[in-house]
Amino acid sequence: MYTESQYKRYTVTTALPYANGPVHIGHLAGVYVPADIYVRYLRAMGQDVLFIGGSDEHGVPITLKARKEGVSPQDIVDRYHGIIKQSFQEFGISFDIYSRTSGKTHAETAAAYFRKMYEAGQFVEKISQQYYDEEAGQFLADRYITGTCPHCGSEKAYGDQCEACGTSLNATDLIHPKSTLSGSAPVLKETKHWFLPLDQYEPWLREWILEGHKEDWKSNVYGQCKSWIEAGLQPRAVTRDLNWGVPVPLKDAEGKVLYVWFDAPIGYISFSKEHTPDWEKYWKDKDTKLVHFIGKDNIVFHCIIFPSMLKADGSYILPANVPANEFLNLEGDKISTSRNWAVWLHEYLKDFPEKQDVLRYVLCANAPETKDNDFTWKDFQLKNNSELVAIFGNFVNRTMVLTHKYADGKVPAATRMGTLEEQTLQELKIFPERIGRSLENYRFREALAEMMNLARLGNKYLTEAEPWKTVKTDTEYALTALHVSLQICANLAVLCRPFLPFTADKLSRMLHRKDCAWTEAGDAQLLPVGTPLEQPELLFEKIEDAAIEAQVQRLLETKRQNELNAWTPAPYKEKVAFEDFQKVDIRVGTVLECTKVPKADKLLQFLIEDGDKRRTIVSGIALSYPEPEKLVGMQVCFIANFEPRKLKGVLSEGMLLSAEDKDGRLVLLSPSGKVTPGASVG
Ligand code: MF3
Ligand code: ZN
Repeated sequence: MYTESQYKRYTVTTALPYANGPVHIGHLAGVYVPADIYVRYLRAMGQDVLFIGGSDEHGVPITLKARKEGVSPQDIVDRYHGIIKQSFQEFGISFDIYSRTSGKTHAETAAAYFRKMYEAGQFVEKISQQYYDEEAGQFLADRYITGTCPHCGSEKAYGDQCEACGTSLNATDLIHPKSTLSGSAPVLKETKHWFLPLDQYEPWLREWILEGHKEDWKSNVYGQCKSWIEAGLQPRAVTRDLNWGVPVPLKDAEGKVLYVWFDAPIGYISFSKEHTPDWEKYWKDKDTKLVHFIGKDNIVFHCIIFPSMLKADGSYILPANVPANEFLNLEGDKISTSRNWAVWLHEYLKDFPEKQDVLRYVLCANAPETKDNDFTWKDFQLKNNSELVAIFGNFVNRTMVLTHKYADGKVPAATRMGTLEEQTLQELKIFPERIGRSLENYRFREALAEMMNLARLGNKYLTEAEPWKTVKTDTEYALTALHVSLQICANLAVLCRPFLPFTADKLSRMLHRKDCAWTEAGDAQLLPVGTPLEQPELLFEKIEDAAIEAQVQRLLETKRQNELNAWTPAPYKEKVAFEDFQKVDIRVGTVLECTKVPKADKLLQFLIEDGDKRRTIVSGIALSYPEPEKLVGMQVCFIANFEPRKLKGVLSEGMLLSAEDKDGRLVLLSPSGKVTPGASVG
């Protein structure tokens, strides 16, 4: 390793996504892409790595979704576990195992973990008051209850956590608690639960995190831990009154399950067991480095609660680092499953087949490492066209095409090395270490930028050496230039692999070479002279405006839908006397003519047969009726006794009645059957 390391092996975990929906770009950018890059790099460094993932299939998010759809929680997790697992596979997330918490090994492991702590007297048993929904006949654990966060005032805090400020809560902390089942205000009812006395771990947590990890943990992670510890830690219930989860393995615990945040992180251990009988060295040997990749909303669970559980057991190692990321937004708005404001991985692949690496690239380049970041389709297109295509792809393609043209498609010998060549190869040498150092320090954006700098170096070299020109005057030199460029291509194939694994495969195939260790890169002899090359294929293709426009339109449509869904009717007005209503003279008329008012986008001019005479009415509904001539013959309702007034120079003698629909469209009122013009409405 390039930075000081005392470790023999690595256990790398990724937050277990709830199996209540598919995964989207936010998941990939925050957790799975960085973790996969890290793991692929470690493997290329010859390290022993166990890379763990799986679906979180317990907890209220699952039962809520099941309830909403009228199916069982098992149906929900079966459906989404399959979709999620496939998405990760398709994007090349190279888990050693991707399992699920509804499995048998997990239930046994989690129950045994609980029992061991229970028998060692590490829980506090408490009968306490918990919120209960009398209408639904159910205790309201976690997301079954919402209310106002006592810390930040967000009105959407859940019973176990406020997502707005990240604070972990107890349901009884919420101000104005409300049941998500019935919407009613819950009552308090007695029930027995087991609590993890986090307060007792406080001195140890101070020492371990605040003193021990000040330097090496990311400042966002360290800062959150610090503020929680300083605020004072409270005992937390690790059991719930629910019927979905791992049953509490005690006699007097009928109808109770382990809290999802107690069982889920144990999943990392259960899945390791499922993967290999030799799992213990990945969890119990202090020479193993345990790293948790998570999003910022998971920090408290992975830095405070789970480590306290590991510490309580006593036989496990603790995480050496928890490189949590902030959130990725989409086109300026928070990604949201319920508002369908997301780019779903399985849908992306339908629109951009085989472009997994493009998304991996853009998400890594925009990874929310130190602050929230934004994904936009324009930027996606730009990064593809002006970086992947114009820099990386272009360099490889030029080199390949020229080699086929001038060197019979075989790696030529380097017989005429000059200063430019020496300098370039000198620069090439430092890339593996430079990229490696960034990766070892969880600086993925920086590492990616360095990898691209190698492609830039190649382009710059090729442009200066100009083999297409020198081939006419100095063939030996032109061939040497191709030799050097091909060595850079071969280095790119090794060094881009953690970030762009599909591209690395394609490039290696083209160069006719097997992958090698990271530490072999930097070398100018990765491709032996005489190696026959395959025909060049484009590594990346330009993404056209139309493809981007289609994505932007889809999001606009989602936004429109969401606005409609959020619609509520205008507030009802105060009462009026019937006599007042009677003062308004409403009549039916027949449209004789209807035309646009010149120079007024919104106005239509109607000529109405009103039974007495013909009257002109100007109405502001033009945007809703783009073909006014079609209204001729229609019967409409109008107010007949308003003072006439001039609108854009036309005298209007009344007002047409229309309803404003929730999208702002105006719809004329018309009697449901034919009536004589002039008939009164009342
Ligand atoms: N399901 C949780 C979430 O999506 C993450 C669980 S991570 C684990 O926020 F540690 F509990 F496994
Ligand atoms: Zn809050």
